[in-house]
Amino acid sequence: MSIGIIGAGNIGAAFARALARNGISATIANSRGPETLTNLTAELGPHITAVTIEEAAGADMVLVAVPWSKLPAALSGLPDWAGRIVIDANNPIEGPHFQPAELNGRLSSEIVADLVPGARLVKAFNHLLANLVSGDPRAEGGARVLFYSGDDIKAKAEVADLITRLGFAGIDLGPLKLGGALTQFPGGPLTALNLVKFG
Ligand SMILES: NC(=O)c1ccc[n+]([C@@H]2O[C@H](COP(=O)([O-])OP(=O)(O)OC[C@H]3O[C@@H](n4cnc5c(N)ncnc54)[C@H](OP(=O)(O)O)[C@@H]3O)[C@@H](O)[C@H]2O)c1
Repeated sequence: MSIGIIGAGNIGAAFARALARNGISATIANSRGPETLTNLTAELGPHITAVTIEEAAGADMVLVAVPWSKLPAALSGLPDWAGRIVIDANNPIEGPHFQPAELNGRLSSEIVADLVPGARLVKAFNHLLANLVSGDPRAEGGARVLFYSGDDIKAKAEVADLITRLGFAGIDLGPLKLGGALTQFPGGPLTALNLVKFG
């Protein structure tokens, strides 16, 4: 299962850092091109390779972490997703004003799903601050909780497996309609909580 990352800022780099620490390979892309990511890849080591957006999007599992207003541009013009997995790590709010985006009654992940037609979307890695995604998930004698949700059971199982390999305690919140609402920031009651699971 190859892994790609679109967005190399706080969350994209944090996810890459977590993968690298566990010896898991991935490609990563930003808007400015792979040559602008040499500092990051040098820091993270040989498992993380800087590529173009198209190359990152070609992986079996692609985490997308781009500011809300930039998502349409980042995801436009890519080849058909053809059943590949997209991890939606995004939230519908961004600096500098942190005004929630107008969603017209929809969940943010439903809007992201429209931008990746044919993909099997799993919402995950969006509800923790970046330093908790990149940091050691072992805490207080337990494992830091990472929620995930989605409508495709097999895609969710793949993401759950990765979450476990990274050392987090994954908790399945069910279909997107349910889990998306619980973990969407702002508004979701499970966002920004730093929870630890024991046993
Ligand atoms: N920060 C957090 O702790 C946190 C936590 C949970 C979820 N999130 C969510 O994660 C997403 C990313 O947040 P962030 O804080 O990581 O943002 P960020 O630090 O501003 O990084 C954004 C990344 O997106 C890339 N990008 C922008 N436009 C692009 C385009 N058209 N094509 C490809 N890449 C593009 C940027 O590349 P360039 O630099 O080359 O433009 C940059 O690598 C947001 O939706 C946010 O809500 C953030």
